[in-house]
Amino acid sequence: MSSPKSRCAVLDPIEVASRDEIGALQLERLKWSLSHAYENVPHYRKSFDAAGVRPEDLSSLADLAAFPFTVKDDLRQNYPFGMFAVPREKVVRVHASSGTSGKPTVVGYTQNDIDCWSEVCARSIRAAGGRSGDIVHVAYGYGLFTGGLGAHYGAERLGCMVVPVSGGFTDRQVELIQDFRPDVIMVTPSYMLAIADAFERLGLDARASSLRVGLHGAEPWTDAMRREIESRFDMDAIDLYGLSEVIGPGVAAECVETKDGLHVWEDHFYPEIVDPATGALLPDGERGELVFTSLTKEAFPVIRYRTRDLSCLLPGTARSMRRIERITGRSDDMMIIRGVNVFPTQIEAVILDDARLAPHYVLELRREKRLDELTVIVEAKADSADDAARAAAARDLAARLKEKIGLTTAVNVVEPETVERSVGKAKRVVDLRPRS
Ligand code: DLL
Repeated sequence: MSSPKSRCAVLDPIEVASRDEIGALQLERLKWSLSHAYENVPHYRKSFDAAGVRPEDLSSLADLAAFPFTVKDDLRQNYPFGMFAVPREKVVRVHASSGTSGKPTVVGYTQNDIDCWSEVCARSIRAAGGRSGDIVHVAYGYGLFTGGLGAHYGAERLGCMVVPVSGGFTDRQVELIQDFRPDVIMVTPSYMLAIADAFERLGLDARASSLRVGLHGAEPWTDAMRREIESRFDMDAIDLYGLSEVIGPGVAAECVETKDGLHVWEDHFYPEIVDPATGALLPDGERGELVFTSLTKEAFPVIRYRTRDLSCLLPGTARSMRRIERITGRSDDMMIIRGVNVFPTQIEAVILDDARLAPHYVLELRREKRLDELTVIVEAKADSADDAARAAAARDLAARLKEKIGLTTAVNVVEPETVERSVGKAKRVVDLRPRS
């Protein structure tokens, strides 16, 4: 794997500041953000008042725990622009996330917010090993989704040449990679694998491509998936995290030199981990639900926003900012199969351990006799695709799922190219249970 050593990176001073400096900056910014939300967003005024807290009650970072949480439903109830903290005329951009039910969540940005977002995305690309002058192929979707435009502005800010491809037209993605010779690609991990398959189908060697670094996120993925992408492209595959409610991509990113979890850009986003069931604050190192408070956002401040993403906070390594562990899943992705709690990523890790299986899978959930039943549908690789080989691989996978995660499932190993490919976020779970 090639680590970029040729052009060294100049970091923002805050990326390597002392913890005291970071804490002092966070406290000053947190005070501003709480007042800004309280004074300008009726929802926050109401929720702070109901909890009996005022912005001036905060005199240390620990005091934040007394402030009420914000949840996705609060944003829905204020659809479309009710959570904006500045006059509508100051908002220069909106994005929205579709959500699985009901109205989308709309988020807004002032020009300063766009500048800040570009900055944290530029930092993320640099942490991943991208440099000024690089060519960056953006295959995240452009539109209401924050992936495409977030990556785009970040890469421009870093001084890169952006190729704004968006998602889809996979053969054309390959052609552009071959012809334009990008150094960096930004795309969901599942779509990166679809691009790898297209290279193969077209008789081209992905390992010989110009790509040096991939920034992958927007969906949960595993270290096994990282190894798969890295070996197929001979490049570094780096984790990039974010969510539209907090800003979009660029809330946290991994550093190429350590690949040990994602550094949260803590000068703009204050992270906490809480117990998903009780909401109690958990100490660093314990796993729970990630909660974010924006420290500098003008148009759409979020106070203690519950992401539902599960992780834990760890001390900084390559940067002073704390890290989050790779997100294993969302609290609402957890399935309970015959009493066993399981996340799709756990199943992915077991699938990718088997050289006969391709990293393309879906999980079908059904309800039979009041019990949830799971069927794992996964593709065989081309050299293990005959009936007997597929049946053997299915038997083995079922046994290993039982052994490694205690899960009893049906397994169906299908022929290559039969599981639908995503062009953005992969849909791993198909829920066929009757709606109650
Ligand atoms: O997915 C923003 C994004 C775009 C991040 C491109 C990274 C790259 P949303 O559509 O609002 O925003 O979805 C946010 O996606 O709460 C997580 O559940 C999931 N997610 C995002 N990044 C990761 C990641 C964008 N690196 C939701 N690992 C989040 C695991 C991720 N899950």
